[in-house]
Amino acid sequence: MSSDLPQPKPGLSLGLQAKRPEAQAAPASFYDQVGGHETFVKLVDVFYDLVEQDPDFTALYPEEDLGPARRRLLMFFEQYWGGPKTYSEERGHPRLRMRHAAFTVDPWARDTWLKYMRVAVESLELPPLYEAELWDYMDRAAHSLLNSPG
Ligand code: HEM
Repeated sequence: MSSDLPQPKPGLSLGLQAKRPEAQAAPASFYDQVGGHETFVKLVDVFYDLVEQDPDFTALYPEEDLGPARRRLLMFFEQYWGGPKTYSEERGHPRLRMRHAAFTVDPWARDTWLKYMRVAVESLELPPLYEAELWDYMDRAAHSLLNSPG
């Protein structure tokens, strides 16, 4: 796990880990528990489909083609939640605060990001405990990236 943002505790945080030693050897990651690649593709697709319809928000982005940004967010989430580590292989340490320093993340940008992410998280129709864990992370991460009073 290599992020400067709050870290999840794979397998522990929901209290669902089996007590048997053989089962404890390889606790399923959150990534696997919520459905792996397909789930995260849907999350990021729903989010970016909404972002792309909001010209005020896309004005924050340096590139007109949001395809690469969509892919970077997917890779980041997959890695963060215990899936493939492609993000760090391609991009190095996430250093999200540093990477967002070039963009004005004021309360409006943060709340707009969260508004679309809320729709994306709900679209997954996860069991409530998983949804709460995912949403709590998004909320804290977005608040941690604020870099302008607006
Ligand atoms: C709070 C409001 C946010 C705004 C306005 C924002 C905006 C942006 C923008 C404009 C980019 C550049 C797009 C690109 O070319 O990759 C970006 C990249 C990225 N953002 Fe955000 N972001 C926000 C929150 C978040 C949060 C909460 C996360 C993660 C939990 C996140 C993860 C990322 C990642 C992984 C990248 C790609 C970094 C890279 O490898 O270059 N962002 N964001």
